Amino acid sequence: MPAISAPRGTRDILPSESWKWSYIVQTASKAMKDFGFSEIHLPIFEHTELFSRGVGETTDIVEKEMYTFNDRGGRSITLRPEATAGVMRAAIENNLCAQGASAKLWNWGPMFRHERPQKGRYRQFYQIDAECLGIAGPMADVEVIALSIEIFRRLGLKNLEVVINSVGCEKCRPVYRQKLIDYFTSRKSELCGTCLDRLDRNPLRILDCKNESCGRVSDGAPDIFDSLCDECREHFAEVRAGLERLGFTYTLNKRLVRGLDYYTKTAYEILSGDLGAQNAVAGGGRYDNLASAIGGGKIPGVGFACGLDRVALVMEEQGCSFGNMPGVSVYVAALGDDVRGAVQALTYELRKAGISAECDTSGRSFKAQMKSAGTCRFACIIGADEAANDTVSVKDMEDGSQVSIPAGEAVSYLKGRI
Ligand code: HAM
Repeated sequence: MPAISAPRGTRDILPSESWKWSYIVQTASKAMKDFGFSEIHLPIFEHTELFSRGVGETTDIVEKEMYTFNDRGGRSITLRPEATAGVMRAAIENNLCAQGASAKLWNWGPMFRHERPQKGRYRQFYQIDAECLGIAGPMADVEVIALSIEIFRRLGLKNLEVVINSVGCEKCRPVYRQKLIDYFTSRKSELCGTCLDRLDRNPLRILDCKNESCGRVSDGAPDIFDSLCDECREHFAEVRAGLERLGFTYTLNKRLVRGLDYYTKTAYEILSGDLGAQNAVAGGGRYDNLASAIGGGKIPGVGFACGLDRVALVMEEQGCSFGNMPGVSVYVAALGDDVRGAVQALTYELRKAGISAECDTSGRSFKAQMKSAGTCRFACIIGADEAANDTVSVKDMEDGSQVSIPAGEAVSYLKGRI
């Protein structure tokens, strides 16, 4: 019978990598805390409607990438393709933004999109996500962008580019949309099949099509800044001024439209020069109409998500530090089979005292045990002599020195040295 493998586009994060992921999440978690964001845990599956209404019917995500199925009760369920819609749903359902209150929430976990797998693109991937809800002003946008940059700064990522744009609001975007439809219709013969399809349904998406001919046509497309209403124009100017005040450099890209329909005003991405085609390590922006799209009234929001898989890839490629690989501090070795019980008991005492400790439970030889002890800071050895005298031999694995300690004092002796 052939062995079963993981589904295409998924992978196992093995211990050799998982400690690096923990380092990234812990670093992000500390930054979130420093910026006043609280952690929220959300369901991994939601009603399909949340995403079709929230992310948008005409997006690639909703049209062709969602893992959607009917559950046993016949309800249409979707594995979340992103976190923002779920965070907003939770805020509405739990009244987190009632009476104009604001909420700063972060979460991390797996997301699911049925995309063609390639380097940095998976079908189950992980995001670290932050959302600031209930604040309409541009300072919130600046806070969120600063938070994402700060996470990458702490992780030591280099060669990043912050790209920003304004995609307008429900007042000015329809005007821009019509200008685009008119323009692209006049150059229809030069567009790829996908963009022809987007022309009436989602013309903004044509602007970031990777096809060469579409790119050339887009170069001459109407400029979004000429269509922004006064409010959007002012908001964007204040976001830019705020970023500059904090000392950030960024690039303006009028063709950055993002693949989710809920964005209003600010949209941004952080790109890495070391990732190839899938070069966005984070993306986000403002979404002032998401709450009403999912039936929750008026709650403005701004946030971002960073791709954990991609961040780990870039850090690896740039040789960034992941801190120290966690190891066990003390190895307790049995010299002879009669003392194995005493060895396990001492190991447990050390662990109870908060010292990471390991012992052999498979009957390996003393030599093999001491080989394992090689990666530890100390080895405790119990043999027939130690058992008879109620002592433990403690070997310093760095300088090779060894001392004999009364068994009852072994824990406090080691605690003072680790
Ligand atoms: P997004 O741009 O679709 O935005 O995803 C954010 C980040 O998730 C990307 O920049 C990338 O690093 C990572 N990512 C996306 N798809 C994949 C994939 N298939 N494999 C690996 N990594 C991937 C959102 O999801 C929005 N919810 C972000 C947001 C939060 N906007 C406002 N608040």
